[in-house]
Amino acid sequence: MNTDKSKITIAIDGYSSSGKSTMAKHLASEIGYRYIDSGAMYRAVTLFAMRHNMIDSNGAIDTEALIKALPAIRIDFRPTDGGQITLLNDEDVEKEIRSLAVSSHVSEIAAIPSVRHALVAMQQAFGREGGIVMDGRDIGTTVFPNAELKIFVNASAETRAQRRLAEMLEKGANVSFEEVLANVVHRDHIDETREESPLRKADDALLLDNSTMSPEEQNSLLMEMFRNALNRQA
Ligand code: DC
Repeated sequence: MNTDKSKITIAIDGYSSSGKSTMAKHLASEIGYRYIDSGAMYRAVTLFAMRHNMIDSNGAIDTEALIKALPAIRIDFRPTDGGQITLLNDEDVEKEIRSLAVSSHVSEIAAIPSVRHALVAMQQAFGREGGIVMDGRDIGTTVFPNAELKIFVNASAETRAQRRLAEMLEKGANVSFEEVLANVVHRDHIDETREESPLRKADDALLLDNSTMSPEEQNSLLMEMFRNALNRQA
């Protein structure tokens, strides 16, 4: 339970590649809060399933084996200059979890209710003391329904695919815009239509469409939202 009123909980949800991680990370570092990328946790579980042959060549998941293995999956984060590294059972998997192979299976893994329950419990434990910025899909609706500040971020699918492509090309991946756009659209569909915690804006979340915003505009709007949320607490 968060008893320190000066340290609030900030939930940032939105579509994939909407830029929410970059803005959440930046906000957390500006205000001295801990940043947690909940999507990285679903990616780490996906990587674990891939490595343990729980996903076959047709993409079918051995859900039963994965559920049994959940207690053996430990996910943590190590802060670095300006970001963080995702640890899967103490191994740095930051690079591997961003691959297209992981991206193409992660939505199906994230749709498994037992996986969600296990990760939501870990996420709530990370946020027990407040002073946290967490980004994802269901942070304002399911993980922290009482968060003092909730933001829902969006941008068009093409804008988001372009951003994801730039990121992947920078990392040396060999992919086309069409492949990345198809992956973005596919993941949107699964995220929005899954039965367990589908992606949706919480009623009390502030909407931020950044299709045409510069990073500076976005960051100053976020700071304003943060200050307003603190003032509401005072
Ligand atoms: O934000 P991202 O692209 O790294 O997220 C990876 C996947 O995990 C994406 O398909 C949605 C899913 N996800 C989720 O279902 N719930 C969250 N809180 C975060 C991510």
